[in-house]
Amino acid sequence: MNNHHDSLRAIIWNNDVLELLDQRVLPHETRYLSLRTPEEIANAIKDMVVRGAPAIGITAAFGVVLAARHAVAQDQNNWKSLIKKDFQLLAASRPTAVNLFWALAKMQQVVDNLENYDDAALLNEAQRIHDVDIADNYRMGELGAAFIEPNSNVLTHCNTGSLATGGYGTALGVIRSAYRAGNISQVFADETRPWMQGSRLTAWELVQDQIPVTLIVEGAAASLMRDKSIRWVIVGADRITANGDVANKIGTYNLAVLSKYHGVKFMVVAPTSTIDMNLANGEMIPIEQRAPSEIFQIKGQQISANGANAWNPAFDVTPASLIDVIVTERGVVQNPTLEKMQALFI
Ligand code: MRU
Repeated sequence: MNNHHDSLRAIIWNNDVLELLDQRVLPHETRYLSLRTPEEIANAIKDMVVRGAPAIGITAAFGVVLAARHAVAQDQNNWKSLIKKDFQLLAASRPTAVNLFWALAKMQQVVDNLENYDDAALLNEAQRIHDVDIADNYRMGELGAAFIEPNSNVLTHCNTGSLATGGYGTALGVIRSAYRAGNISQVFADETRPWMQGSRLTAWELVQDQIPVTLIVEGAAASLMRDKSIRWVIVGADRITANGDVANKIGTYNLAVLSKYHGVKFMVVAPTSTIDMNLANGEMIPIEQRAPSEIFQIKGQQISANGANAWNPAFDVTPASLIDVIVTERGVVQNPTLEKMQALFI
């Protein structure tokens, strides 16, 4: 793994517990939480112990394995109806990343196909979802890296690495592969207020892999593009609609607008499990609103003026017209349109 700048796993299945690396306390503390019930898993997703679209989906899949075990222990003949509420609980944990619903649908399919309870069948499916995600990331790494010219400075947003996925990462996977190919001089990363996924998580992953990373505050992006000749902005996605619009961490849209003005190329990297062909365009994507306290406070301490209001959407939508390329494990889509997106699924 180390040869590929890939040394970290945030989701570990350990016999009958799911171990999750607690991303709220990184990088200063490395602790894994042991989760045993679907309630604990739904809360871990809601509370940001685990985050990032593919990682949320994988976690929920293991949540179904645990839910079924508990249901069978309760009533062997009625386990299928008992786990319905657990599916609902897991589905209600976060609204925007479609990978959550995609993974739950995969698990539901296995449940539907079973005559009798079969732990191995459920566990195999969850593990398969995890393994395929890692393999897809390596594939996207290759496909995306092919676009990165020698001596490139790139800018990324949020965290899309091993922490946000089964392993290796989507946008960060492309960055890892392009660095390995010798084509990246410097990675710039946004802090990513208010959860600081950039300064806490992306910087931590890149430092561990000895890939040079420079942090900026979000407000520095325009000057960075002008002064440091950024070639590519490379980001992940939480949901991509049929026309190629992309929901991703709040602030992504800003970067896409700035990229257009400065002639910087804009790349979105996401597996097809992030594509929601049922939604025609980005206006239909449910955008998670999070607590105002995330803006008012830092580490529990009030920073803002008392009496102010806060607007705290966790994601924004970048229109397809601002995107140069979407990289998936099935291939790349340049200047996305409905027809080109549909072609991915033929
Ligand atoms: O709120 P988060 O940290 O779950 O948001 C994560 C992102 O927006 C990522 O860019 C996206 O999920 C892609 S992760 C490969």
